[in-house]
Amino acid sequence: MFKNMVLQWPAEAIWEQLAPHLPGLTVEILPEIDSTNTELMRRAKAGQLEPILLVAERQTAGRGRLGRDWHTLSQISESTVPSLTFSLGLPLSPLDLSGLSLAVGVSLAQSLHPNIKLKWPNDLWLSDDQDERKLGGILIETTMLNGQRFVVVGVGINIHAPTRTLEHQLRTPPTCLQALRPSSTAPAILQGIMLPLVETIKTFEQAGFAPFQAPFNALDVLRNRQVILNGFEPSNKSDQPQTGKAVGVNKLGALLVLTNQGEIAINSGEISVRPR
Ligand code: BTN
Repeated sequence: MFKNMVLQWPAEAIWEQLAPHLPGLTVEILPEIDSTNTELMRRAKAGQLEPILLVAERQTAGRGRLGRDWHTLSQISESTVPSLTFSLGLPLSPLDLSGLSLAVGVSLAQSLHPNIKLKWPNDLWLSDDQDERKLGGILIETTMLNGQRFVVVGVGINIHAPTRTLEHQLRTPPTCLQALRPSSTAPAILQGIMLPLVETIKTFEQAGFAPFQAPFNALDVLRNRQVILNGFEPSNKSDQPQTGKAVGVNKLGALLVLTNQGEIAINSGEISVRPR
């Protein structure tokens, strides 16, 4: 069935902001797709390596980290007003991709609101004296074609509050941007975050993660807290998951954790870390 757009998107204004930094850019807004990341990876593998911003009002098979599904709060609430889901695909030649999702997180948090913090490696969290909940996430994927690396930066941000029924159904429902900025809409937020995001990715391409290490550490919700590392093989081979105190990230974006066996650096995206 043909689907209509629900919102009005400033595609041309965004294109005008970004095109000087991304020659050959296309901005495409769709009512529905399986996943904006999946689509840009498909197109890249088929040879489309020009920069593209793909926004979808609805994803039917959104994906998160560690092979998980990704649903926005709008979807879970069966709201007709979409949240923000998009992917930016671009050819990129960084020396090392480590830490790119953290640098993207720094850019988004700084553009969005001072109460938005980061949970290693790719979660946007709303964190203040009263509340601490997930607001959005970042999924970075990459492929090589004829010696050219193509990177897809996928971002999902909840914009609208969950319905009351949903608040009661979920033990810890994720939060939304309207909790901080009540007039937020997905198109306005997209327009506000894209230019700083592209500038961040360009800086990362030249300088890697090092310039983002201190800003990430300043936004890190896990810093100086006890954490549980799920998926990490403890060196003492006990059945219990490894625990320790998170003490920030190193120059490559690895999470540093002080354990009773000493300091360990967690690089692997396969490990999930949560506050104890
Ligand atoms: C996570 O929290 O694990 C990452 C979530 C990333 C979701 C975004 S929504 C746009 C893009 N398309 C996807 O299928 N995933 C990313």
